[in-house]
Amino acid sequence: DCPASVKKQLAKVFEVSLKATVPDEPKVVPLVSPCVAKAGVKISDYQCNNAMGLFAKIKGKQTGFKGPPAVGKAIVDNLPESEMIESCSVAGPGFVNIVLSKKWMAQRLERLLIDGIDKWAPRLPVKVVMVDFSSPNIAKEMHVGHLRSTIIGDTIARMLEFSCVESLIRRNHLGDWGTQFGMLIAHLFDLYPNPDDVNETAIGDLQAFYKASKVRFDNEPEFKLRAQQSVVRLQSGEEKYRKAWERICDVSKAEFEKVYKRLRVRLEAMGESCFNDLIPEVLEKLDKLGLVEENDGARVIFVEGVNIPIIAVKRDGGYNYSSTDLASLWYRLNVEKVEWNIYITDVGQWQHFDMLFKAYRRAGWLPKDENEFPKCTHIGFGLVLGEDGKRFRTRSSETVRLVDLLDEAKNRSKAALLERDAVKDWPEEEIEKTAEAIGYGAVKYADLKNNRLTNYTFNFDQMLNDKGNTAVYLQYAHARICSIMRKSGKDIEEIKRNGNIVLEHEDERALGLHLIQFPEVFEESLSNLLPNVLCEYLYNLTEIFTKKFYTNCQVVGSPEETSRLLLCEATLTVMRKCFDLLGIVPVHRI
Ligand code: ARG
Repeated sequence: DCPASVKKQLAKVFEVSLKATVPDEPKVVPLVSPCVAKAGVKISDYQCNNAMGLFAKIKGKQTGFKGPPAVGKAIVDNLPESEMIESCSVAGPGFVNIVLSKKWMAQRLERLLIDGIDKWAPRLPVKVVMVDFSSPNIAKEMHVGHLRSTIIGDTIARMLEFSCVESLIRRNHLGDWGTQFGMLIAHLFDLYPNPDDVNETAIGDLQAFYKASKVRFDNEPEFKLRAQQSVVRLQSGEEKYRKAWERICDVSKAEFEKVYKRLRVRLEAMGESCFNDLIPEVLEKLDKLGLVEENDGARVIFVEGVNIPIIAVKRDGGYNYSSTDLASLWYRLNVEKVEWNIYITDVGQWQHFDMLFKAYRRAGWLPKDENEFPKCTHIGFGLVLGEDGKRFRTRSSETVRLVDLLDEAKNRSKAALLERDAVKDWPEEEIEKTAEAIGYGAVKYADLKNNRLTNYTFNFDQMLNDKGNTAVYLQYAHARICSIMRKSGKDIEEIKRNGNIVLEHEDERALGLHLIQFPEVFEESLSNLLPNVLCEYLYNLTEIFTKKFYTNCQVVGSPEETSRLLLCEATLTVMRKCFDLLGIVPVHRI
């Protein structure tokens, strides 16, 4: 529920009127939506579109309405007194156009400045939510797919945190288990017979290390045998093997940490290895429920509507990715009491999750109705492409080291910054911080602004451009508003307490309207878990501010200065919330 949503508040007012207009249809749902501009022109702020459908329903019954416009007119006439609405009119086949009261809009903005934006957050009916994101695999490369998962997952986690979820778990389901460790350990022991000698520099370049051991695994039968034995010895808990595994994990995690630190992303790791002992137990429960069957030597689970099964135990008796997810989901639901479990991976994994959830439903461990809590959701995303339209890679290696990628974003934005006269006298530290905020922010925004399901092309020049729909453009606008505030020399806290907002100029009004629409846009973005909806809102806010308000309404030194400074402050408040939700650090001067 989102009480701050203008759309919902209007819907409530119209619900009263609809009930009075057609008492025979008490279940009618008010259809209220913001008005979209046609050729740059908006007829009203919102529209109520019930008249047409209602007339179709009630005609034939002796209601006395001649047509949909008459129903529309009655809806307007039956509206209860509301301070939100300035006027309503009926147009065309029965659209009810709604114009909001400027006074009411201004008051809403004044309240925002006093109460803070948290009052605008929706409330979700769940206490414990988990977002399973990032989740790279140890000793394999952390690739751009994991970067997408990290960026999208962090934003979704932030959106849920804003929505007052009591306990939000940011889970890193690290791929820290599996047969690849056999060859890594065997290779490691050949290089360092004593695992105590293994420090970070020894296997610093894990990707190279992984590749070297893979080459040996594929080409040296004797090594392959030892690798396979190493897996068995690791899984049976032999100390020396355990230790080697830990060292490899530590080095890998240190590399992941560097990426998280740059992106300011917090994660709580609970890797696949944690669930290894739980797998037999969970499979046994599923077996008792009659879900597990023999298939070509493997133990499998069939689910509704899919003709291939989940392989729960491989033919060689080993476990796999699915076995682990079967067990970890049990743990999440029963031990961690997660009510909503959100997995964020590339769309390629949708079937894995579809089958996992279906198996749980078949076991009666998740409600039959997908929308009921506890619930599981898989959030898929598309590929990151290079300029050549293929999977994103750099020239030198087959994959991209994410740390290098982020460093390049920062270095490029630093170079652009240093070309500006304004930064000549900045302390070095501020230049560094600003370059990071702009560079990392640009990478995040370039990812988030696309519908997550579509593939997008990674392009530094585009994402670091200071014009167009980029984070850099948004940052400049933010810094410009900060500079207006500084230039005014006014004590903003003082005018917040004593000043008033007036929305007389049409561009003041357009800005004010967009600002108070934040709650309903946020709610839409949250309910579909689509961060791009929020990006689009932020971009439009910036455009309205820059191209309309700031171009046509003088702030400092004008008779309306106080009101306009308050509008600037409200814009900053909403912009910063958007930045915060997108994991972008706003810059205050450029
Ligand atoms: N490690 C997996 C990968 O790199 C992602 C794990 C996602 N989470 C999960 N519970 N399966 O593709």
